[in-house]
Amino acid sequence: MNPIDTTAIPPTQTTAGRQSQAPASGSTSRQEATAAIYDRAREEWNPSRVDMFRQYGLDIVFGPRHGYEFEDLGSGRTIINMHINGGVFNLGHCNPEVRQALIEGSERYDAGNHYFPSQVKMGFVDALLKVSPDCMRYVNVNTGGGESIDSAIKFARHATGRRRVVTVHGCFHGATGFAMQAGPQEFASFFNSVPNPDEFSQVDYDDLNQLEDVLRHNDTACVLLESLPATAGFPIPHEGYFRAVTELAHRYGALYVADEVQTGLMRSGTMWCAVGYGAEPDMIVTGKGLSGGYYPMSAVIMNDRAGQWLKDDGFAQTTSFSTSELGCYVGTKVLDITARDTTQRNVRQLTELFSRRLSEIRSRHHFLTGVRQRGVIMGLVTSHPEGSTALMAALYRNGVWAMRANFDQHVLQFKAGLLMSDALANKVLDALDVSLGQAAAMLNVED
Ligand SMILES: Cc1ncc(COP(=O)(O)O)c(C=O)c1O
Repeated sequence: MNPIDTTAIPPTQTTAGRQSQAPASGSTSRQEATAAIYDRAREEWNPSRVDMFRQYGLDIVFGPRHGYEFEDLGSGRTIINMHINGGVFNLGHCNPEVRQALIEGSERYDAGNHYFPSQVKMGFVDALLKVSPDCMRYVNVNTGGGESIDSAIKFARHATGRRRVVTVHGCFHGATGFAMQAGPQEFASFFNSVPNPDEFSQVDYDDLNQLEDVLRHNDTACVLLESLPATAGFPIPHEGYFRAVTELAHRYGALYVADEVQTGLMRSGTMWCAVGYGAEPDMIVTGKGLSGGYYPMSAVIMNDRAGQWLKDDGFAQTTSFSTSELGCYVGTKVLDITARDTTQRNVRQLTELFSRRLSEIRSRHHFLTGVRQRGVIMGLVTSHPEGSTALMAALYRNGVWAMRANFDQHVLQFKAGLLMSDALANKVLDALDVSLGQAAAMLNVED
């Protein structure tokens, strides 16, 4: 079943993390403990996932973690995290300021009551509006990203009185109800006995003609666009794409919803990726990193038109844990750190460093055929249809954890955190340099 022989990689030619030599004493008991966890997980938790990761030699068990590194309990090695759960660890693992906010907040707040406003809730809402375009007026707060995507679709349908949602092929918006229907159609149709072609349509990313063909029916509630589709490997659209999407959506009476769950919060080099390209979405959906890695929070930030439901119905989109006061307290700290000058400077510096060194590395490796980059969001394009799987395995052996793009496995998702140091970024790039040749060798392709 496994076409790639990951054991062909020598364990440690170059390693990015500390203590990454082949495991010495105590390694057997560590490996046994890891195997026992994975065996149990296969029995009781997720058999298919366990089989998949074991197949690639990626039987990771997270141990102590700090910044952008974690200890891999099985191997005893320190691994650099270039997956960061899609942005959940944008500010690093166990960020000390966020942790302090969680501790402090828990002494004063709990979830609060989801019906009533409070000072800490309004502080969080204000902080989100402050980092968003001036036209934004309301914030609907939820927990997970999928929940906020569901919410945005409801707001769009309420505001327009229409039902159709247009998304792009290769997008992923979450595993909840509407979010799932808006995502990969083969997945959604399995669960919906009647996939309704009048309610969900998909067009190619970066193709305005296809989009306009659907919008011409004048029945679209919203164009829901994952700004840079992560699972498709972060394709970068032409410069005017997001502005044109805004214009087209508005011309045909639809709203434009920017899914910034992965690309928001400075990851693209600006607070919101689509806005950085000059677009004017009617709604921005954020999540993942808003949690600070600690307290699940997501939000829909919307303009006056999109927020009509809030004016019509006092019970619009409320759940038991939406606007948790403790979550709002933590989230306010996350936004404070994210918007800081020093953070923004670090993002610019990292962007430049990755860009410069990746183009130099690319010039020496035929296996790396392209680099997609916007800020600290990167997609590494390989020459082989399963290149990212081999590269993911080789990088792990060299001390870096990064995830392939499942919908286009030529491409590896390469995601740096906002506060990563240059020294750590250089270690990641050194490990990549070695891993590319090893991955190409595994696949028997030229490097
Ligand atoms: C772009 C995008 N939107 C929405 C979601 C859903 O977020 P959550 O997993 O928090 O429900 C994800 C999750 O990976 C995502 O990547």
